Amino acid sequence: MARYFIGIDVSTTASKVIAVDDLGGVVAAHAHPHELSTPRPLWAEQDPREWWHATQTALHAVLQIISARDVMGIGLTGQMHGLVALDENGEPVRPAILWNDGRSYAECEEITRLVGADRLYELIGTRLFPGFTAPKLVWIRKHEPELYQQIRHILLPKDYIRFRLSGALVTDVADGSGISLMDNYRRDWSNEMLRATEIPSEWLPELVESQTVASVVSETAAALTGLRAGTPIVGGAGDQPAGGIGNGIVRPNQVSLTVGTSGVAYASSAHYSPELNGRLHTFCGPVPSTWFHMGVMLSAAGGMRWFSDEIAQGMSVEAINQAVVNVPTGSRGLLFAPYLSGERNPHPDPLARGAFVGLTIRHGLPEMARAVMEGVSFGMRDLLDLLRDLGLNPTEAVVSGGAAKSAIWRQMLTDIMGIPLYTVNTTEGGAFGAAILAAVGVGAFPDASSAVEAMIRRVDQTDPIPHQVQAYEEVYALHKTLYPTLQATFSKLAQLEQKP
Ligand code: XUL
Repeated sequence: MARYFIGIDVSTTASKVIAVDDLGGVVAAHAHPHELSTPRPLWAEQDPREWWHATQTALHAVLQIISARDVMGIGLTGQMHGLVALDENGEPVRPAILWNDGRSYAECEEITRLVGADRLYELIGTRLFPGFTAPKLVWIRKHEPELYQQIRHILLPKDYIRFRLSGALVTDVADGSGISLMDNYRRDWSNEMLRATEIPSEWLPELVESQTVASVVSETAAALTGLRAGTPIVGGAGDQPAGGIGNGIVRPNQVSLTVGTSGVAYASSAHYSPELNGRLHTFCGPVPSTWFHMGVMLSAAGGMRWFSDEIAQGMSVEAINQAVVNVPTGSRGLLFAPYLSGERNPHPDPLARGAFVGLTIRHGLPEMARAVMEGVSFGMRDLLDLLRDLGLNPTEAVVSGGAAKSAIWRQMLTDIMGIPLYTVNTTEGGAFGAAILAAVGVGAFPDASSAVEAMIRRVDQTDPIPHQVQAYEEVYALHKTLYPTLQATFSKLAQLEQKP
C-alpha cells in the first residue's frame, strides 16, 4: 500500500499542499494564491478565511492525485508571527495582522522597557520587532478596544488551519516562539511576559512539540476537504524552522542559507544560547530539545526582482545573469545597500533603505545588476557572521531560494561566505519540512535525522575560488561601512517621504 505525508504551507502568497512519499518524492503539489491587503502605510493583513478557502482548494487538487486513505499524517507550516484573533464562536474578530506589518513599533519599545532588554532577549531569544505577535495584540488593545473585548483565542496562521481541520486550539513550540510570549529555554509560556503585556493566558493555544500528533481531522473538515476523518495532524512548525528541516538541517553546526524574497541564515543548536544583543532570533527548534538561531534580511532575491522589474524594465533573469558575467568582482567600484524593505538583522531598523554608492558615468545596467547581487550576498554574509560570532563554525552550508538557481549568484555567494555551498533534491522548503515532521510524528521514522537521511539528498556543490574569496573580503569590508554611514540619512529620508 502506498503511504504519503501531507505538508500544508500557509504562506503570505498562497496556501500550498504537497504529498510526499517515504523516499522524499513529491507525488502531488498544488498552490492556491492569497491576496495581501495593505489598507494603510505599514499595515499588512489577510483574511484567515481566505487561507482556509485556499487550503481546501489545494487539498482537493492533491486528493485528485492521491487517495485520502493513503495519507498517514499531516504537517502544518506557514508564515510566522501572524496574529489571528478569534471571538467566542471561533470567528476572526478582524483580519489577521501579518509578520511584515510595521504598526506596533511603539508597543515593542514599551514591552522592552517593561521587561528590560537583557531579560527580554533571555526569555524570547530576540529583540522585539513590530511584526511579532504580542506587540500587535497590545496594539489592538490600544487602538481597537471594542475588538479587543471580543477576543477569546489567539492563533498563528497555520494554527488557524489546524483549528478549521480539527477544532483544536494548538500551536507548536517553534512557531509559538515567534509570538514572543514564551520562555524559550523552558519551552513554555512565560508568566513574566504575560504579566508585562497583560495578555490573558487563557487566550493562548496549547503548546506541543513540532512532531507531536496534537489533533486529528474532524468529520466536518473531512466532508469539506476530502481528507479521511481521524487523519493525524502533528504540531508542525513556522516556515523557517520547517524550511530548515526541509533543507536537511537537524544537527548542531549545520547551516542553511535561504536567499528567497527575504534572506535567512538558519542553524540548529543543542543549547539555548541567545545572542546577547538580540541581533538574531533564537527560538525553540522543531526537533525536541533543540533550538535554532536565525538571522533574517527582509529583502534578498526580492531586491533582484525589484531591479529587474523597476530598473531593468523587465529584462529576463537569464539576460541579467549573462550581463553580470562580464563585470569584475566588486562591480567596478559600485556598492549596493540591500535594505529595500527596511532591515531586521543585523541592523534592526524599519527605516533602513536601499542605496547605490559609488556611481560614475562609466557604470551601467550590468554593473548595477552585479552590485545588487553582491550587496544581497554581503547581507547574507552579515547573517552568517552573526552565527559565527555565536561560536558556530560551519565548514559548509546548504543554499536554497531563487538566488541558488543562478550559477553565477551561487558562485558569488560561495566566494563571499568562503565555504562550499550545496543544494539538495527538494525545493519545497517549509511544506517538505512539515511533511517530514508528519512522517516522524506518525512513527514512519524514529526521528527527524533518520527521516532527513532517507528523504533528502545533496544535488550539487559549489566550491570557493581562493583568489575570489580574497577579492571579496576587501569589498565586504566596505559593505560593512554602508549602514553606519547612511543610517541618519535613511531616517531623514523616511521623514521627508511622510510629508505631503
Ligand atoms: C520569520 C519571518 C518570515 C515569515 C514569513 O521570522 O518573519 O520568514 O515567517 O515567511
